Amino acid sequence: MAEFVIAIDGPAGSGKSSVSKEVARRLGFGYLDTGAGYRALALHGLNNPGQEIQQLFDSFDYAISLDPDHPAVMVGDEDVTAEIRTERIASAVSQIAKLPEVRKFQLEDARALISACNMPGIVVEGRDITTVVAPDAQLRILLTASEAVRLARRGLENSESAENLKARDASDSKVVEFMIAAEGVYLVDTTDLDFESSVAEVLRLVEVVKHG
Ligand code: DC
Repeated sequence: MAEFVIAIDGPAGSGKSSVSKEVARRLGFGYLDTGAGYRALALHGLNNPGQEIQQLFDSFDYAISLDPDHPAVMVGDEDVTAEIRTERIASAVSQIAKLPEVRKFQLEDARALISACNMPGIVVEGRDITTVVAPDAQLRILLTASEAVRLARRGLENSESAENLKARDASDSKVVEFMIAAEGVYLVDTTDLDFESSVAEVLRLVEVVKHG
């Protein structure tokens, strides 16, 4: 079990994934992208049309590496790391992330992965990590940025995908609140921070919670 858990929530384009990975690297911690579990399950559902949700859970042979340099995602024998990042999956995933039984399944899976992590700590990123998955984490952060900056970071200004991303954020934020920091959660707004400064801010907060 990782002793030090850093929970990071936030919307797409906040810098959450790249910052979380870099923080994990610098601290020698594991890295868990919980969105990958939702994406892999969406892919599994699309590949098995007509299956009931319970059947999908039962046949979902999911594995994710906690190495921040190689966060590979497997479903059965197939490496789906690249495929789960496609627009096809992105546009399907919010639909399944809404389902309470899916959220319960993913919650249990994420907690099992955190417990099994044999590194000194782990950085866990998602939408409900600070509030639901790891509310007892040693450090909880909500990483945000203005909508314009989030779209620009994804190279999506004025495109159809920009509309998709906004729609997804709107849909996702109805399911779990990840735009407002819960009590005890540090808010890190990266609108005016570059990558290095965002990483430095998270590392500073690690020192704050460790040493006061
Ligand atoms: O961060 P991401 O784009 O890879 O997330 C994929 C989807 O999963 C998105 O619809 C939000 C959802 N998600 C969630 O509801 N809770 C999490 N902890 C992580 C992701």
